[in-house]
Amino acid sequence: MGEISPAIDSKLKHPELFRNQAYVNGKWIEAKSGKRFDIIDPGTNEKFASCPDMAAEDVDDAVKAAHEAFLAYRTFTPRTRADLLAKFDALIREHKDDLATILVFETGKPLAEAYGEIEYATSFTRWFAGEAERIQGTTFPAAMPGRRIFTIKQPLGVCAALVPWNFPIAMVLRKASAALAAGCTMVAKPSPETPLSALTLAYLAEKAGYPKGVFNVLPTTLANTPSLSEALCRHPTVKKVSFTGSTRVGKILSAHCASTLKKLTLELGGNCPFVVFDDANLDQACDALMALKFRHAGQACVTANRVYVQKGVYDEFAALLAAKTQEIRVGHGMDKSTTMGPVTVPTGLDKVAAQVEDAKKHGGVVVTGGNRITSLNNGYFFEPTIIANATQKMKIASEETFGPLLALFPFDTEEEAVKLANDTSMGLASYCFTKNVDRIWRMFENLEAGMIGLNSGNSSAAESPFGGIKESGFGKESGKDVAINEYLITKTGTLTLEGQY
Ligand code: SIN
Repeated sequence: MGEISPAIDSKLKHPELFRNQAYVNGKWIEAKSGKRFDIIDPGTNEKFASCPDMAAEDVDDAVKAAHEAFLAYRTFTPRTRADLLAKFDALIREHKDDLATILVFETGKPLAEAYGEIEYATSFTRWFAGEAERIQGTTFPAAMPGRRIFTIKQPLGVCAALVPWNFPIAMVLRKASAALAAGCTMVAKPSPETPLSALTLAYLAEKAGYPKGVFNVLPTTLANTPSLSEALCRHPTVKKVSFTGSTRVGKILSAHCASTLKKLTLELGGNCPFVVFDDANLDQACDALMALKFRHAGQACVTANRVYVQKGVYDEFAALLAAKTQEIRVGHGMDKSTTMGPVTVPTGLDKVAAQVEDAKKHGGVVVTGGNRITSLNNGYFFEPTIIANATQKMKIASEETFGPLLALFPFDTEEEAVKLANDTSMGLASYCFTKNVDRIWRMFENLEAGMIGLNSGNSSAAESPFGGIKESGFGKESGKDVAINEYLITKTGTLTLEGQY
């Protein structure tokens, strides 16, 4: 087993929650290769833990265990599945302090945001505990005499979750809660940056009473991620894959899953537009944008990337936004005064820097920020940045940023705003601020995205269907019926009554 740095160990109330081995079939194990890899704190660029580097050769054991467990778990009553999820939920809440600390070290996000993520994540455990008991079939009047037609819902089987590093607890629980409520078992592959929080969840799932094999976690490196993920996607016993991440990787996984016609949920890239009209409440729009854009240093698929502001309020809105952005305090996530942490991966810095340089080259004006911060430990810090006078020629107009940078694009008319907002291959979320009720409705209908915020910024919620259209993927991950259905099959029965055919 690998060591744990005193930097985090001293901050944990229950050090037994810190797990740094893979979890398969109820056992804490090492990779077959015996290799381990380092986990780095993005706020200091220092190693604070290590994990087994599971590889494709480790996949079959985990899938077999999950399948063995499924044969029993699928017979658990909905009430028992709901009770297990409720217990899991209670244990996560009870241990939120330690989970939040682990999250800060893994992702870099400020402690208050880590607590926010746990609150968000447990909205899924709570919600899907309820959904477990709302899984229902239907009956249909038959056209033919003597016939009875009906459907039942049954769990799919072993499911794989491929989870990103930006909200590692919320994204594991959004997928696992739905799967476990449905009666499926799961093999989760967290990102190389954030395996520890997923392993703590496995520990708490065990404490909640989940039988061995129901929930398994395979940590791995960036180098082994493609082959391990491919092994899960191609495994004939895995019946469903749920992935949150980039559109590029989503397309690759989709091709792997095609070999067994596996059911897929893909929550992919964003590049989301945020449209502010002259008649908007500018304070409301600005507060929503600040929370949406700078949450986790802009590293969310649903974050606003491109901000379109109508010319009548452009200068006023830019000034308001700049003033609020300058109040952000950048620092290590464990520092209580920090309101924005580092980006989680160093390549994130390069991407933001490249977009800033490109914008400047195309006539963009840096209103605030624009630079890496090198004076803060050795962490991956970038100034919260606003670019004004942005145009569609700039990289930021077509590339998702995934960092603390936003660009302001002036526009004249509603028609122009819709055209610009929709001018992307992606369609995850779009946002619109106006006090004109007719326009609200038109924008809702005309913006091409799976989720539309109307005078609302971040709209993610367990009760609200989450998912995109176009190249942002397909399938829904929360909300009533739709999300749990992703883990169920609908079986149709036709009964013919004797003497009536
Ligand atoms: C994401 O960025 O991938 C998810 C964010 C959310 O659920 O709000």
